[in-house]
Amino acid sequence: MILIVGGAGYIGSHINKELNKQGYQTVIFDNLSKGHKEAVRWGELFDGDLSNIEQIREVFKKYPIDAVLHFAAFIEVGESVKDPQKYYQNNFKNTLNLLQVMLENNVKKIIFSSTAATFGSPEYTPIDEKHPQNPINPYGQAKLMVEKVMRDYDVAYGLRYVALRYFNACGADVEADIGESHNPESHLIPLILDAAIGKREDIKIFGTDYPTEDGTCIRDYVHVTDLASAHILALKYLLDGGESDCFNLGNGLGFSVRQVIDAVKTVTKKDFKVTEVERRDGDPAILVASSEKVKNKLGWKPQFTDIKVIIESAWKWHQKINI
Ligand code: UFG
Repeated sequence: MILIVGGAGYIGSHINKELNKQGYQTVIFDNLSKGHKEAVRWGELFDGDLSNIEQIREVFKKYPIDAVLHFAAFIEVGESVKDPQKYYQNNFKNTLNLLQVMLENNVKKIIFSSTAATFGSPEYTPIDEKHPQNPINPYGQAKLMVEKVMRDYDVAYGLRYVALRYFNACGADVEADIGESHNPESHLIPLILDAAIGKREDIKIFGTDYPTEDGTCIRDYVHVTDLASAHILALKYLLDGGESDCFNLGNGLGFSVRQVIDAVKTVTKKDFKVTEVERRDGDPAILVASSEKVKNKLGWKPQFTDIKVIIESAWKWHQKINI
């Protein structure tokens, strides 16, 4: 049995679908504060909160858990700067509870959702795993702290972990069973789709004076189903006795904010207002991953490299939930 903590959320629910497709049994531990009950369409839902260690103990008592995938976290970089306590308590402290109960139950395999934000401002691009990790916000800091704790627990207690550092997760399940939906919406592609559908009067570009070709920030957009396949490879690797490791997950392709907006206009055949505003604090100009390590070591092959195909999947889902 695989425990998916935060499996009712955007990324966790896609991994849950893929795991079930491949015949794994899953139990989803989620407090449904950000996740959606309707997204738990496979496996069993256990309504629990990581801040409550007894609830974690209960789920381990109830199910024979072999390994854990941990997605539960707050995800807004800007909010983490304004309210760091929220991030250190939920993303860091509550993760310590999970690790504690894993060790109590002798469950020593975990896949952890880490982030490009652990690297901070890039010193070179594309960013590989050797790049220094100097986060510039509490969100990235808390994720890096968990990576460090897992390293120590590996040495001391034999915990085996894989930390997967996502760049910009995006897109939706091609069958549109599940997709991305945050409340309030905070991420670029769903925000642009909201403008396309008329739910939002415009899309704002945060900064047009970056040192990039068109002046807007460049990001590495990686499809959530490709993230799912990477998790399954990492899980198999750990279940087969693999050593702890960290991998960056991106397409290695950068798209600017303007390019993403143009791609949305092409895919949706809708026009909408684009407003140029000031830079948002803490946005590096360019964030692009080198994913050579995960390709070479785990055999990962992303299927969605065309930004239009990625947006098509997100658009299909976005229309479905906004009927
Ligand atoms: N952007 C806009 N307008 C908007 C929203 C975003 O121009 O209305 C721009 C941002 O400035 C950024 C790009 O679009 O340049 C992407 O922004 P997102 O907010 O969608 O994503 P981020 O790159 O800020 O964040 C992502 C993940 C985080 C993770 C971070 C790592 O969502 O969880 O990458 O750096 F921490």
